[in-house]
This record gives sequence, structure tokens and C-alpha cells, in this order.
Amino acid sequence: MMKILGIVGARPNFVKMAPIAKEIERTAFADFKLVHTGQHYDDSMSKVFFDELGMPKPDIWLGVGSASHSKQTARIMSKLEDVMIDEGPDLVIIVGDVNSTLAASLVCAKMGIKLAHVEAGLRSFDTDMPEEINRIIADRLSDLLFVTEKSGMTNLEKEGIRSENAYLVGNVMVDSLLNNITKAESTGIIKSLSLDGPYALMTIHRPSNVDDPMNFAKIIDILESVSSKIPVVFPLHPRTRKRMEEYGLQLDNPNIISTPPLGYLDFLNLMNESTVVLTDSGGIQEETSVLGVPCLTLRENTERPITVELGTNEIVGLDKGKILACVRDILTGSWKKGEIPPLWDGKASERIVQTIRDKYGH
Ligand code: UD1
Repeated sequence: MMKILGIVGARPNFVKMAPIAKEIERTAFADFKLVHTGQHYDDSMSKVFFDELGMPKPDIWLGVGSASHSKQTARIMSKLEDVMIDEGPDLVIIVGDVNSTLAASLVCAKMGIKLAHVEAGLRSFDTDMPEEINRIIADRLSDLLFVTEKSGMTNLEKEGIRSENAYLVGNVMVDSLLNNITKAESTGIIKSLSLDGPYALMTIHRPSNVDDPMNFAKIIDILESVSSKIPVVFPLHPRTRKRMEEYGLQLDNPNIISTPPLGYLDFLNLMNESTVVLTDSGGIQEETSVLGVPCLTLRENTERPITVELGTNEIVGLDKGKILACVRDILTGSWKKGEIPPLWDGKASERIVQTIRDKYGH
């Protein structure tokens, strides 16, 4: 039987790998093992996602933890090489664009192990973003590339990646969303945060936004201004919380409700019911488009242009005037309705697994 290893490390990876792991289990065509690098290790960033997504505990835990990008990537590579020697997989599946994705792609390429990248082809064309570097390398080294939106196919073609290896299959994050949205509706988070009317939801964690004190100060100013129009729920990523402590920033405003990192179902519920989402996340731009919730992306670019073309997303940078104008439009109900991008139908993992079986399954 074919032997497949799935590699995950950080929060968004868990959401993307869960439906693939389930589909491999359902079709029972391969022996599947899950490797967790330990890039994210807090229960609130990791365990809660496994529990809520119904993913089996990782078969292999590398426990690399936090470090600078190069050290973290190198530690993962070093430990993964031993795993590959022990396990001898026929195929490795990587998802997304985090350092664990990059590390696994390098190890597989150097050991001649077949590699499939899920969420291939996305490009922000901004190599100051660590994720852009990870995406470019992972795609260049992959044998099979599974793409979420048409821009990804165009990008791969321009980079000379052979078209017979790239497949437009839809979005596994949407598979997880559709599998869990009903369950998410009953989490009780809205009540427990005492939200009894419209609210905004904001998440910020990109290094360009939080590691730069000037940009972070601008974001806090934007947050204060938006909160004078509508209460803002603000779950804090560990990186963001750490920087706030370092910069001595405090949020003493009853209209800003900051929380620890939330679980998958709580966050899905909050996002689905919110009036507007302000974010610098990648995945949240996609999830809001599927839910039909207006999204303002506090970045200068997006690697997910379909969410702007077809979805509910707008790129607003850190331009306070523009953001407040957008919030005003959203509050008065004059925002684009958006439509769900092609193939974001909850069946991406089925297409991925079928393609793997057709290509490599015996
Ligand atoms: C990583 C990904 C990013 C993704 C994000 C989702 C890379 C380059 N970045 O960023 O693409 O959007 O995950 O959350 O891989 N920390 C904890 N507990 C944890 C994990 C991290 O406290 O469980 C703290 C540590 O102080 C660490 C910091 O968060 O230094 C950053 O963690 P790291 O894994 O380096 O990157 P993220 O910012 O989480």
C-alpha cells in the first residue's frame, strides 16, 4: 500500500490538512501518517484545532518550537530528514506557506521523495513576506501542485512549472469551513463575549504590521477609530500580544474586546456573525468571501486576488481614511455582495485525493 506523510506545523496548516487526512482515511487507498513539526505548540494554537477538526493526534511530533526563521526552518529540516529515513514515504503532502512547508519541501527535494503542495501558485510578489519565499521554493520543488484559484495557475505557468503537474482543485480551507459551519453556530462565544449587537472582528499578526512599531501604532489608531463606530473583537495572536507588551501598548477601551487566540469553531462563529472583518491574514480573506462577510485587508497586496475580484475583500493597507470610509459603506449596507469563487465547494480534498490516486496509486 502506498505510504503518505502529511506535514503540518502552524495553525492554518491544521485547518487545511484535516479534510485531506479524512479523505485519505475514507478512501483507504494509502497508509497515512501525520507529522507535526511543533512550530505552533500552545494548546490554543494547536491542540484545540486537532480536537475541533476531528484530526487524529499526530503520529510524529518534532517539537521544534519558536526561533528565528532560519533556525526554525533548519531544525525542522534536520528532524524531518530522520523521519523520512525511518518512514520511507512514497509521497509527502505539504500545505500552505509556513516555515514548516518550506522545510519539508527542501528535505523531500534533497532526498528524491515525491512531493505534493496544496495551495500552490499563490503570489503576493512581495519577497519581504516570509510566506512568499516559502511559496516560491515549495512550488519549484513540488511534483504535484494543487491550486485554489486561477491566478495560481497563471503564476505557475509564468514560472515555467509544467502544466501537467498543476491542478486547479479548489480550496481545502473551504472544505473545513463547510464541514464545520453548522457546528460552529452553537459555540456560545457571542454570548460569552456579551455581544448583543453588530460588531467588527479584527486580527493582526503579520511581521510587517506588528514587528514594526510605527505600523503597529497606526494599527492601534485605526482600531480605536473603528471602535468609535462599532465594537471590535480583537483576538490576539501570540506574536501580536508579545509586541504589545514590548511596545507598552494598552487597550483601555470598552469598545475593544481583546481575547486570547480562539479555537476554530469559536472563530468561525464570530466571523460568520460579524458585520465587518479587518485582517492581515491570508485564510481569513478566503473564509469571509465564502461566508459573504465584508473583509478589509490591512496589507498592501494579496496573494489571493480572487477574493477581491469575486469575493467580499478589499485591500486597504494602513490608510485610516480609506478604512473608515469602507467601514461607513459597510455599516450603511452599500458593500459588494460578492460571489463564491469557482470550485470552492467543499470538494477540494476529494479532487486532490483522486488526483493522487490516479497519478501514484496502484
Ligand atoms: C506563522 C506563519 C504565518 C501564519 C501564522 C498563523 C511562518 C513564516 N509564518 O506565523 O504564515 O499566518 O503562523 O498563525 O511560518 N508563539 C507562541 N505560541 C505558539 C507559537 C508561536 O507563543 O504556539 C509565539 C512565539 O513567541 C513566536 C511567535 O509566536 O516567536 C511567532 O511564531 P512563528 O511560528 O515564528 O510565526 P507566526 O507569527 O505564528
